[in-house]
Amino acid sequence: MLRIVVLSGAGISAESGIKTFRDSDGLWENHNVQDVATPEAFERAPELVLRFYNERRKNIADVEPNAAHKELVRLEEKYEVNIITQNIDDLHERAGSKNITHLHGEIFKMCSAVDKNVSYPCHKNIELGDTAPDGHQLRPFIVWFGEAVPMMDLAEQICKKADMLIVVGTSLQVYPAAGLIHSVPSNIPIYLVDRNPPSVSVSGLKVYNENASSGIKKVVDVLLNEL
Ligand code: APR
Repeated sequence: MLRIVVLSGAGISAESGIKTFRDSDGLWENHNVQDVATPEAFERAPELVLRFYNERRKNIADVEPNAAHKELVRLEEKYEVNIITQNIDDLHERAGSKNITHLHGEIFKMCSAVDKNVSYPCHKNIELGDTAPDGHQLRPFIVWFGEAVPMMDLAEQICKKADMLIVVGTSLQVYPAAGLIHSVPSNIPIYLVDRNPPSVSVSGLKVYNENASSGIKKVVDVLLNEL
């Protein structure tokens, strides 16, 4: 079976009603990223950071996977599909995709503030004073700016074995995730779906300059019917 790797970003969930990061003047849900998505922010203002992610969790629980998430599942009829997502939402899971690697963590998990190796399911708010089994404050299981990205090694291994790559809804501005586009073998087809596509210099690139739902449908139709 040929292997397809999908690298997804916030743009794939935009049509579900989740805001992207860089489409709104550098602000993320009215916050500067440095104020809510760094370990320093959590030390300085833990209540603000917890409240921010509690709101994100509620917001994500209230939305549904869109056509782009669902279309990707169809690829599994014919290919081995690995999804590597920068998104903390669970919309790929709820659409039914099987193999999903979250590079930047998951909103429906939490961990101890001093041990990010063990995570626990999280479907309610985390409050200041809520503790993990090790006695330390609980925090969202999110990779913040300045923190290591533990899933990168696995993601690179997956990319090295790709026969095709689909990149969807990511500005490719955040590293190391953005570098994965260079971890795939150099001669494979790369399909890029984005309504404002980032410029990338790789060979074999086919750009679909449109919304994720319509662009992914076209790519999936090509991969299922024409190849
Ligand atoms: N369809 C397709 N693409 C879209 C849509 C849509 N409906 N809406 C927005 N986009 C595109 C934008 O043109 C942009 O290229 O999605 C991309 C979103 O880019 P970012 O907001 O930068 O999101 P992403 O690349 O996922 O960010 C990476 O940055 O803040 C961190 O950890 C966070 O995982 C995130 C990382």
